[in-house]
Amino acid sequence: MIYSAKVMEHFANPRNVGELADANGIGEIGNAKCGDIMKIYLKIENDIIADVRFKTFGCGAAIATSSMATELIKGKPLSEALKLTNKAVVEALDGLPPVKIHCSVLAEQAIKAAIADYYTRLGIDPTPIVGVIDTDHDHHDHGCGCDECNV
Ligand code: FES
Repeated sequence: MIYSAKVMEHFANPRNVGELADANGIGEIGNAKCGDIMKIYLKIENDIIADVRFKTFGCGAAIATSSMATELIKGKPLSEALKLTNKAVVEALDGLPPVKIHCSVLAEQAIKAAIADYYTRLGIDPTPIVGVIDTDHDHHDHGCGCDECNV
């Protein structure tokens, strides 16, 4: 399996690993396909992601995409973070092998779950803002070459 230099670099030196004691939005997502788990901690101030950390119990692609995703949302307004797709994360990493695309969905969904948690803590229903979070999820691009597409 060929990984891009960027994927290897983020896997070897993942950014923003750990926890935030003063997080005000925490999201955890599991990947139904492989059982891997990602947890994300957000510190949100005035609708801006002031700080972010993650912990991923998962494969190298999950760690690299989590790392890149945290870099892409750090310092950004919530509205922008909510628009982050797994596709954009994969592109920022110069691609992933097709069978690993499903790994990149963990970060996208965990960020959404953490933002939803933030709104819930404020007493605001997150669903109209964040949408439905697929916690048990198996996203892939049709025709991506994964097992699902090949059945
Ligand atoms: Fe589980 Fe990659 S194999 S997230």
